Amino acid sequence: MRVGTPEHRELFCRTFIETHVAFEPEELPWPDLQGVDLARLRAFPFWRYARSIEQRAGRMVTAFAKTIEDPLIRETVAVQGTEETRHGRLMEHVIERYGIDAPPLDIADAPISPEEFRVFGFGECTDSFVGFGAIALAREKKILPDSLLSIFDGVMFEETRHVVFFINWWRYEQARAGRDNFFTRTATALGYHGRAALGTITGATDLPPMPELDDPDLKEIVAGITPLMFIETALAENRRMMSRLDRRLIKPTVMPAIATALLLGIRMLPPRKDVVKTPALAPVAQDAEAVRSRNAA
Ligand SMILES: [Fe+2]
Ligand SMILES: [Fe+2]
Repeated sequence: MRVGTPEHRELFCRTFIETHVAFEPEELPWPDLQGVDLARLRAFPFWRYARSIEQRAGRMVTAFAKTIEDPLIRETVAVQGTEETRHGRLMEHVIERYGIDAPPLDIADAPISPEEFRVFGFGECTDSFVGFGAIALAREKKILPDSLLSIFDGVMFEETRHVVFFINWWRYEQARAGRDNFFTRTATALGYHGRAALGTITGATDLPPMPELDDPDLKEIVAGITPLMFIETALAENRRMMSRLDRRLIKPTVMPAIATALLLGIRMLPPRKDVVKTPALAPVAQDAEAVRSRNAA
């Protein structure tokens, strides 16, 4: 299948629409949390940020969909808009259900244009890659219960669909404009990644600072997570999520390539003896041991 053809457009749009799952956040199997699980969930400082960022994405993507001429692409982006809006409602539901102290946060809306959608799309490629690593490690280190994390797995699969749709849409548009040369395309993609990262950094300076975590056990677990562990986990989870979508679709490559280069660089460094602290929980201690022996190998 050639990039930029009607068959390509049909595949990336239809795959997205057909894998959309209808549900309401309140209907999901939310676990009853108590004790350390509830305290830990409440202590995570990012809920108010996540809710505002998803709500803003919902408004932006929904508004952008209305400006698209191609009816199939318009329909697909509109479905993404409903999913982003639902992510905002899902975060709201988490905050209410578990009694999290997360006052609303105002983040200015992004302008609506194909260019802004491109910056947003490349930003999502980075965010979802980091999210893959964070959620997989939260599960591996037993930071939060599986019953809760499996709901967030569902959210991450929706984000996987968003970035795969986005990268195919972008390549489709590039090919149709005669700009599908590998080097130009890679340089352009890196430029967008840079702009998205810069936007995140600039936006972050407008936000109130995240409060300190008040959970000594969690702090110790987090301190024991090395960059190597994080990158390995994110890459593995990225492969797992991407393999759930049609093999013929283009998958994002910039973040996995950067992560792989970092991984190779870190592996070439001489081993540090003090890098993994002994974590407080027994299952985590076993994981740390496994990583230590992996690193030494
Ligand atoms: Fe989202
Ligand atoms: Fe998304």
